[in-house]
Amino acid sequence: MKVFLRSFGCQMNKLDTNLVANSFLQAGFEFTEEIGEADAVLINTCSVRNHAEERVLSLLGHLKHIKKTRPQIVVAVFGCMAQRLKEDLLSHEAVNIVCGPLQIPELVSLVSKAIEKNTKLTAVSNDIRHKSLPEDSDRLDDFEYSYDSAEDNLPAQAYVRVMRGCDKFCSYCVVPYVRGPEASREPAKIIAQIKKLADSGIKQVTLLGQTVNSYRYDNFTFADLLYEVSKINSIEWIKFVTCYPKNFDERIFKAMVDLPTVCRYLHIPAQSGSDKILKAMNRGYTCSQYLEIIDKAREIVPDIAVAGDFIVGFPGETDEDFQKTIELVEKAQYKNCYIFKYSPRPGTRADDKLADDVPMEVKKQRNIELLAVQEKISAELNKSFIGKTVKVLVEGASKKAHLDKADKENVSQLIGRTAGDYIVVFDGSENLAGQFVNVNITKASALTLFGQIN
Ligand code: SAH
Ligand code: SF4
Ligand code: F3S
Repeated sequence: MKVFLRSFGCQMNKLDTNLVANSFLQAGFEFTEEIGEADAVLINTCSVRNHAEERVLSLLGHLKHIKKTRPQIVVAVFGCMAQRLKEDLLSHEAVNIVCGPLQIPELVSLVSKAIEKNTKLTAVSNDIRHKSLPEDSDRLDDFEYSYDSAEDNLPAQAYVRVMRGCDKFCSYCVVPYVRGPEASREPAKIIAQIKKLADSGIKQVTLLGQTVNSYRYDNFTFADLLYEVSKINSIEWIKFVTCYPKNFDERIFKAMVDLPTVCRYLHIPAQSGSDKILKAMNRGYTCSQYLEIIDKAREIVPDIAVAGDFIVGFPGETDEDFQKTIELVEKAQYKNCYIFKYSPRPGTRADDKLADDVPMEVKKQRNIELLAVQEKISAELNKSFIGKTVKVLVEGASKKAHLDKADKENVSQLIGRTAGDYIVVFDGSENLAGQFVNVNITKASALTLFGQIN
C-alpha cells in the first residue's frame, strides 16, 4: 500500500506529521511522491488563517478530480482543520476520513479500514475544551514515544512536545479550539524520549509548546526542564518555541548562560505595539511590560537572538496603533519577524465581537511596511557577523540556488542554522548534513549569512 503525505501548519503539525509518517512506515505502508499512484492520501491541516485552509481545500479539489478516475483512493484529512470542521469536512466529495489532532494514534487503523471497506470515517473530539482523561494523554504520550519525531529531512534534529493545547485564548486565535486545553507532559516521559533520540544520533532537540515557558508539571518548571535536558549526553543544542510574554521566569535566561547546550534564541511574539490592540487581543500584557522582558533577556544574555510575530490589521487598528507597532519593532531589534495579516477565524472572540474593519489593501500595505522596517534591522544585525566565525548545524543542500554558487564538482551549496537560529549558506559536501561545522561569514543579506567552512 502506498501513501502520499502532505503537511501544512506550524512545528506542532510537523511533529505530528513525523509521528504519523513513522506509524505508517511501521505498519508496512510505503511512501510515494506521486499522488497518482497512492492508495491513500494523508493531509495534515492548519486552521490558523483562512489562507491555510484554502490551500487544503484546493488540494482537496485536485483530489476530487483524481478520484473520478481512481475512486478507490482513500483521502484522510487530519489535524487542526479536521477538528475545526468535523463532519462538515466529511461531506466534501473527496474526503474519506476526518481525524482530529488528538486522534492521530488511530489514523493507521482508520485508513486501513477505509481502504478495506471504502467507507467514510470520523474521529474527532466532540468537546475539545473538556479536560482530557489520563488514559487519553497516556495514549498520546505512548504514540509520541513509540514513533518519535526525528526528522529525515533535517538530519540529527528532532522536535519534542513538552505541552499540548493552549489556555490563553488570544481573541483572534483558533488554536485553543482545535488543540484543546493546555497540558504539560510528565518530565520523566520527556527526558526518556530525549534520551532515546540522543541514542539514535539526534544532536539538536527543539522543545515545543504553544506557550512553552508556561510549562509546569506540579512544581517542576520549564527552567527545571532545561537543566534536566542539558544533562543528557550528546544533545548539543536545545532550542524551544514559542514563548509567551507573560509571567516570564528569568531562570530561563539564567539557564542560557549557565548551560552551554541551551541555545540563546528566544521566539517571543508581541503581536502588536499598541496597548489598545493588545487589550483587544486579550494578550494580557502592555507594550512596556513586553519590552521589559526583552531588556531583561539582553541584560542576562547579551548576545541573545530575539524573534517575534506580529498581526497587522486587527479590528480597530488605526494608523496610530500601527505606528506604535513600528516603534516596537525598532526598539526590540528582532533578528527576524513573522508578520501576518489578520484573518478572522470562526468561533473566536474577535470574530464574534469585532468587525474585520481594516480593509485588505491597508492590511497589505502595513504588512509590506513593517516587513521593510524589520528587513533593515535584520540586514544591520546580519552585517555585524561579517568577519566572525559561527557554529552551524548543517541541514543539507540548499533548495534555493543562491547567487554566488560555486561551480566546483562534488561541492554543493549547503544550508544550516546557528544556535541563534540564523540561516547560513556555504559550500561543502552533502555528507556534512547533520554535523556541526564552523563557518567564516563573508557576506550577509537581510535573510541569510554567507561564508566558507574553516
Ligand atoms: N502559540 C504561539 C503562536 C501560534 S499561531 C504564540 O502564541 O506565540 C502563530 C502565529 O500566527 C501567532 O503568533 C500570530 O501572530 C499568528 N496568528 C494567529 N491567529 C491569527 C489570525 N487569526 N490571523 C492572523 N494571524 C494569526
Ligand atoms: Fe493562540 Fe494565543 Fe494560544 Fe498562541 S497563546 S496559541 S496565539 S491562543
Ligand atoms: Fe499549528 Fe495551525 Fe494548528 S498553527 S496548532 S497547525 S491551527
